[in-house]
Amino acid sequence: MFYVKVNATTANVCVGFDVLGMALDMANLFTFERKTEFSFVGFEPPYRKKENNLVYKAYAYTFKKLNRPLIPVEIGFQGEIPICRGLGSSSSLIVGGVCGANAVMNQPLSKEEILNICCEIEGHPDNVAPAIFGGFVASYKVNTIYKCISYPVADKLHFTVGIPSYPISTKQAREVLPKEVKYADIVHNLGRIVHLPKALNEGNVSLLKELFDDRLHEPYRKSLIAEYDTIKEICKEKEVALAISGSGSTLLLIGYKDNSMIFNPFGFITKDLKIGQGVKVWEE
Ligand code: HSE
Repeated sequence: MFYVKVNATTANVCVGFDVLGMALDMANLFTFERKTEFSFVGFEPPYRKKENNLVYKAYAYTFKKLNRPLIPVEIGFQGEIPICRGLGSSSSLIVGGVCGANAVMNQPLSKEEILNICCEIEGHPDNVAPAIFGGFVASYKVNTIYKCISYPVADKLHFTVGIPSYPISTKQAREVLPKEVKYADIVHNLGRIVHLPKALNEGNVSLLKELFDDRLHEPYRKSLIAEYDTIKEICKEKEVALAISGSGSTLLLIGYKDNSMIFNPFGFITKDLKIGQGVKVWEE
């Protein structure tokens, strides 16, 4: 039986819309065991059908992509990553399915090829790239090929997530974005994104606070997160940088300690996390 462990991810990292992402040490675990027909264990009832199961879809897509006959398996799932909260849960299902197929086929794919298959399914790289490679990753596209580069992150940083009770779908969060943005707003973000690898590498939270001032998505999405403005105001006085995690609803804090208490008055579920190491595949 093959095991595939895929980290949660926090995409955008504030000013890196659709480009930057980080893996966090919270994970979903998938298993793939050869059987005579497909079956599903550990999934909620609606996801026990092939047509509703994104792990199966990604698994089958990978076989088709490689022109190999589909090998039936029992797909098992143990989930830790909350759904529709901006922590890369659907990316984890895609990466799980593609890596499961790769394991069952005896590893014909490199990580770069896995990245590109996952991006074909997901549509953007900022969650799947860190889920595959781990750490803090910046992605770009050369013609049709996605590539990514990893940057080191200081050990002293704490990543605290505040997870609201309500979901926000990526579709809903993309619908509130404008069709066009101003040059001035792009320049504002460019001037910040370029310094992010340095701030994260040095673990410089006061620099991160200045850099975490997005103009491309957060101003439009904060209306979907009722607590955002109040929490932003609280963070101004503290040694902590705040961002919407992915497309929300989770909020991400980067600081020097567990900052969960900032979220406590709002009833959010909190987790104090370290950086994730990327997908892990093994056989037992
Ligand atoms: N970059 C994506 C977005 C991440 O913000 O819409 C969520 O999938």
